[in-house]
Amino acid sequence: MRSQLLLLLCAVVCSGGFKPVVIVHGLFDGPKQFQTLSEFIRKDHPGTDVTLLSAFDYLDSLQPLWKQVRTLAAVLQGALQRPGGVHLLCFSQGGLVCRALLSISPQHNVHSFISLSSPQAGQYGDTDYLKKFFPKYLKEALFHFCYTEAGQKVSICNYWNDPHQQSRFLQKNHFLPLINGGQLHNQSAAWRENFLRIRKLVLIGGPDDDVITPWQSSVFGFYDSREQVADMRDQEFYRTDAFGLRTLDARGDVSLCVHAGVKHVQWHSNYSVFHSCMKKWLT
Ligand SMILES: *[C@@H]1O[C@H](CO)[C@@H](O)[C@H](O)[C@H]1NC(C)=O
Ligand SMILES: *[C@@H]1O[C@H](CO)[C@@H](O)[C@H](O)[C@H]1NC(C)=O
Repeated sequence: MRSQLLLLLCAVVCSGGFKPVVIVHGLFDGPKQFQTLSEFIRKDHPGTDVTLLSAFDYLDSLQPLWKQVRTLAAVLQGALQRPGGVHLLCFSQGGLVCRALLSISPQHNVHSFISLSSPQAGQYGDTDYLKKFFPKYLKEALFHFCYTEAGQKVSICNYWNDPHQQSRFLQKNHFLPLINGGQLHNQSAAWRENFLRIRKLVLIGGPDDDVITPWQSSVFGFYDSREQVADMRDQEFYRTDAFGLRTLDARGDVSLCVHAGVKHVQWHSNYSVFHSCMKKWLT
């Protein structure tokens, strides 16, 4: 009798305690790759409502990012505005889609935004991913394609950040400079306010990631013009607080979680990463 009562109580309390989690995948993958992660969440936080987003899966993930962001804004509008709050966990390219989504969503109620190995400050490197798609380009030359109207129709080019071609980057890249505030526009202030509705920004990445280049881009570091990596706090967008990062940091709401020994495709299936970097933010 007593244990039945406890079970009943637990069914009410234990499952009601955790906010829902929405997971957004990255380039060339889909919801299937995130089953392990959602099992980690449900096992440690029983009853959590986990949504694995299925949109722009696999090759479709090459579609231009604004198109992806607009679609997600429509699909996830209700989920992101839940009165009790929701957490958003986004991997790799998905982390940029999510950040743009948070920037354009004035009513969202996202508590933790977890950016899992995502090139938040851009990408500049010849990785296997890139070679598969652009076999004949070296990184030094890719701007010739990426910073054109045709290039901007390919997602990778939306965050291609060539440190030697910054004026072209600012003029011709229609995505990253807008959300990072390198290119101010009439919505910059509103987007900043929207983004700042999040309670917590969790940035996860590490030096053995073999895709994000430089890997520090996952924690908002990036190459300067000599290809030396400058930290988040030395970035122009941080100093000018262009999209709210400095404010979040001053609020104590930026959590960095850097792990060595994890390859890019392992971030979402490594329990020790989940346990030490994500779990406490998913309550
Ligand atoms: C912002 O500028 C665009 C054109 O660049 C214009 O279409 C839009 O109406 C403007 N929005 C506001 C709120 O002023
Ligand atoms: C999991 O992550 C830890 C770092 O937290 C790392 O040492 C380990 O090698 C990783 N394991 C796998 C299978 O990726």
